[in-house]
Amino acid sequence: MTYDEVVLGRRSIRGFKKDPVPPAVIREVLHLAMRAPSSLNTQPWNFYVLTGAPLDRIRAGNVERNLAGVPDSREFRSHGAYEGVHRERQIEIAKQLFAAMDIAREDQVKRKDWVLRGFRQFDAPVSIVVTYDRVLQGGDIAAFDCGAVTNALVNAAWSRGLGCVINSQGIMQSPVVREHAGIPDDQVIMICVAMGYPDDSFPANAVVSRRKSVDEAAVFVGFDDA
Ligand SMILES: Cc1cc2nc3c(=O)[nH]c(=O)nc-3n(C[C@H](O)[C@H](O)[C@H](O)COP(=O)(O)O)c2cc1C
Repeated sequence: MTYDEVVLGRRSIRGFKKDPVPPAVIREVLHLAMRAPSSLNTQPWNFYVLTGAPLDRIRAGNVERNLAGVPDSREFRSHGAYEGVHRERQIEIAKQLFAAMDIAREDQVKRKDWVLRGFRQFDAPVSIVVTYDRVLQGGDIAAFDCGAVTNALVNAAWSRGLGCVINSQGIMQSPVVREHAGIPDDQVIMICVAMGYPDDSFPANAVVSRRKSVDEAAVFVGFDDA
């Protein structure tokens, strides 16, 4: 695949075949991803590559705590709820996904089921939890670097025929993830990536999210002809 084919073809995958992913392929994907730049080449990231029983224990713990109403305890900070144009974009992708999955706005049962799918990591055969070293906590740079490597990871996976969805849902109940993945206290849980071979019959996998235009995002300064 060319770079353009990877970047333009990749989309979040939320329905997976049951086929296992060979560890050698995951190693290759991580090797490519870790070419991502990082501040002063500090490479603050660590990866916990989970499958089988440990991943199932995390899924079960996430669902159980969610159903019991245990408040989120994810370790990366949030500014709070989205508003304005950000809220509009959040609603737009939700509408696209719900339309694909035939989930009506008022259908509380299907909506809850969709949320629980997220807490189960969309039943993916693999989940990769990205952490960074706690000594770097408090600044923004390690989080930036983890974002860079995670984006590289999903693109590298796509180039090898694997689908991914970066997701916060899987790490919202961080004690569950920490316990079953064996993550030591000197690392902060940043995000996780559900991974597997895409199930092409799963409707949400066909959803292509929109992007604002370059003209909306970029300001060209000092050019004569931009
Ligand atoms: C930090 C982060 C957290 C995300 N969390 C979730 C999540 O919890 N559940 C989910 O279904 N998608 C999640 N996503 C996927 C985004 O919804 C998706 O990347 C976005 O809508 C753009 O779509 P695309 O990946 O198909 O281009 C997350 C993405 C990022 C970068």
